[in-house]
Amino acid sequence: MTDNKITWQRGRITSVAAAADAIAEIVIATERADRVAPGAHVDVRIDDGDIRSYSVVSAGADGRSVTLGVRLSPTSRGGSRFMHSLRPGDEIELTAPIQNFPLRVGAARYVLLAGGIGITAMAAMAAVLRRVGADYRFVYVGRRRSDMAFLSELVATHGDRLEVRADDEGHGLDVASLVGDVDTHTEMYMCGPIRLMDAVRRAWLDRELPLPNLRYETFGNSGWFEAEDFVVTIPRLDVTTSVGAGDSLLGALERAGVDMMFDCRKGECGLCQVDVLETDGTIDHRDVFFSETQKAQSEKLCSCVSRVVHPRGGGRLVLDVP
Ligand code: FES
Repeated sequence: MTDNKITWQRGRITSVAAAADAIAEIVIATERADRVAPGAHVDVRIDDGDIRSYSVVSAGADGRSVTLGVRLSPTSRGGSRFMHSLRPGDEIELTAPIQNFPLRVGAARYVLLAGGIGITAMAAMAAVLRRVGADYRFVYVGRRRSDMAFLSELVATHGDRLEVRADDEGHGLDVASLVGDVDTHTEMYMCGPIRLMDAVRRAWLDRELPLPNLRYETFGNSGWFEAEDFVVTIPRLDVTTSVGAGDSLLGALERAGVDMMFDCRKGECGLCQVDVLETDGTIDHRDVFFSETQKAQSEKLCSCVSRVVHPRGGGRLVLDVP
């Protein structure tokens, strides 16, 4: 398994192709040869120095290349726009693969659930389960087939194991029935929009299934609301800065010179949490660190993923940092 010491390296883009509408398949030749375990991701330094995480969809047999799938966010001013601007021959800085979402081989049964661009985290897991002859059900949910990356390859590879649920075909996912079919020997892995993952988590808890058997990757998820610009103020430090729809609050605070703590940058570790003093909007909690009760109280938020929305846009958030 890949260790999680962060090692930066140079990468060269070798190909860019369309994996679906607005989703680019980007192949990067890497300096290092690394074994890439399913569920691994790489961090990429984008042009303004900020960092974005992308799941490794697949890796070259020699470990010297990784394939990523990147959806162009309509509001992006950073990560996905930068990634979509890359062309063969361009060089970037990326980490060696980092493993925070390991697949445990050996369970009696598996359910893999991918929603939208979350397929990038699930494709390599499905490939391994198929290779080892595991009993798995692979559910891939999207708005329409043209939005669903790598669809034809996945259909060809997984055959009947793959269930495609496209909303516009009237085959949306029934979460209660999906989780209702799970028994206590089944492990479920998922990555997708936060609404989908939240619904699955609630159904899982309702059924009192073993919590360690539900595993998920959170980055790439969307929030409860469309991201929009807002303004953040830290009175104690006399800092006021704006957070663009394509920025993170954490990134904006760092750029404003605030000394921030963080680790995962994807709403899991809670290290980037800040104290909410006041807001005129609604906090869109996009993390999986705080409990539902803590989110309802909104006294804190994870600055790497969570943000503020206001009915007329341009919300205001007043906070303090630890
Ligand atoms: S850095 Fe881990 S939750 Fe924000």
